[in-house]
Amino acid sequence: MSLDGKVAIVTGAAGGIGLAIARRYARDGARVVMTDLQAERGEQEALAIRTAGGWARFMACDTADEATVETLVETVETEVGPIDLAVCSAGISKGGQPFYDTTLEDFTKVLSVNLVGPFIVGKAVARRMIASGVKGAIIHISSVGAVLGVETSPAYCTSKGGLSMLTKVMALAMARHGVRVNAIGPGPTWSPMTEAALDQPAIDMMLSRTPLGRFAEADEVAGVAAFLASEDSSYITGQTLYADGGRLALNYVVSKPA
Ligand SMILES: NC(=O)c1ccc[n+]([C@@H]2O[C@H](COP(=O)([O-])OP(=O)(O)OC[C@H]3O[C@@H](n4cnc5c(N)ncnc54)[C@H](O)[C@@H]3O)[C@@H](O)[C@H]2O)c1
Repeated sequence: MSLDGKVAIVTGAAGGIGLAIARRYARDGARVVMTDLQAERGEQEALAIRTAGGWARFMACDTADEATVETLVETVETEVGPIDLAVCSAGISKGGQPFYDTTLEDFTKVLSVNLVGPFIVGKAVARRMIASGVKGAIIHISSVGAVLGVETSPAYCTSKGGLSMLTKVMALAMARHGVRVNAIGPGPTWSPMTEAALDQPAIDMMLSRTPLGRFAEADEVAGVAAFLASEDSSYITGQTLYADGGRLALNYVVSKPA
């Protein structure tokens, strides 16, 4: 899918799914501005994309901080050009306890990165898309956690449920401006986040409930992000597209046929 000449911002682009999307967009011809808290890693990954022949630049940013995001978006518009594509992949997962043992600080922190961050980025980008008349696309990285509750991830699941609704209300507001807003809901995907958080019993449990019988590679989520950025998805807006290996299709309390 060609993204020739498009200017893209990808948040959370120093690793995992965000990095895979940045690489894919650069390979498809976009000029990609990668942003993340991890500056050293982000700079290295942007350099690797340039070395491979793509266009990439890294700018550090805390996407939960409105002033910093405004500066980032302003700089991109001035130094790179009007923004066509924005992907919000920055996310954190701070689980482990049921909601009644979760501190307000932890709950609020997860919401500030996973939900308020995409609101801040979306707002800054959308206002400029409207002003410049760009018919672009905004893509959020949600999760199967938007619709499947996990008792010990109250903040994460709430943030992703909210993100899928934010996707809808943004899509409604941007439709008249020709900008599409969608989300991707990955199932289990190999990334630094999953590698750090999951032990073998947790992996086995997830695989037992994943019909395709494996985790996704981040590149497979990037393929969906390329589709949602391209004209091939020109009539899709307000959706969360689940790249989940069949997890949401499975009623796992019913036994498999012998
Ligand atoms: N990996 C999975 O199985 C999976 C499944 C469903 C959804 N997701 C979602 O996909 C997205 C990417 O996850 P991942 O698995 O690649 O995780 P990851 O931890 O590998 O990548 C997330 C990146 O976001 C960055 N980040 C965190 N807070 C930030 C902030 N305030 N500002 C800027 N950058 C920040 C991190 O530094 C990191 O590089 C997340 O939103 C996550 O919730 C992942």
